[in-house]
Amino acid sequence: MSHDIRITPSILNADFDNLQNEIAKIAAVSDLIHLDVMDNIFVPNFTFDFDSARTIIDRCPIGIDAHLMVAEVDQIARLYAQVGCASVTIHAEATEDIATTLRAIRSEGSRSGLALKPNTPISDYEEFSDLVDMFLIMTVEPGFGGQRFMHEMMNKVRATRALIGDRPIWLQVDGGISLETIEIAVQAGADTFVAGSAVFNANDPAKMVVSLRERAQAVAD
Ligand code: DX5
Ligand code: ZN
Repeated sequence: MSHDIRITPSILNADFDNLQNEIAKIAAVSDLIHLDVMDNIFVPNFTFDFDSARTIIDRCPIGIDAHLMVAEVDQIARLYAQVGCASVTIHAEATEDIATTLRAIRSEGSRSGLALKPNTPISDYEEFSDLVDMFLIMTVEPGFGGQRFMHEMMNKVRATRALIGDRPIWLQVDGGISLETIEIAVQAGADTFVAGSAVFNANDPAKMVVSLRERAQAVAD
């Protein structure tokens, strides 16, 4: 198994009153910053409206990986692409027109992502894989940081890796990623890792990002 490894830390568990400082701690060692957008409708939690998110996006020194956990995703996804997010991920359960929204994201120059909640099977979405630059397999129920990694999602990760084959589609996991669970996720075929509480609860967040990358790379090589 030899994949490029990407670490995309989530700032959900960072100090929201000092986000610029929090991002600055990890920017140099991270591939992208994972921005969890929640509307309190699709998930029972709220993070940012578009204007607040835009301020973060504009000030971020590296690319943004926007994870949209919002009900009105078909209206909102294009906006995140237009303001320059490197990647915009929509939830399969929220969109009413997957193909149009994935195409809209790409047409604005962003990578298109498709996320699946734990109970959503990958087999329902195989037909859209040519429109997808990244699959996100949730390893917790979306909504909150600090939850337990769902080992039972590894079958879905393996099935998604088989679907991707040799294509340059990233395979991201999100939820409960730590120095222990990242190895399991790499073995199942993931190559792109969100980590929130593991990074921001660490004494040295940047060092934790480096350690996560080293741990994943050691398994992938
Ligand atoms: C949860 C979010 C995650 C969250 C992960 O709905 O999508 O990105 O920040 O946090 P940890 O790594 O603490 O599980
Ligand atoms: Zn996320």
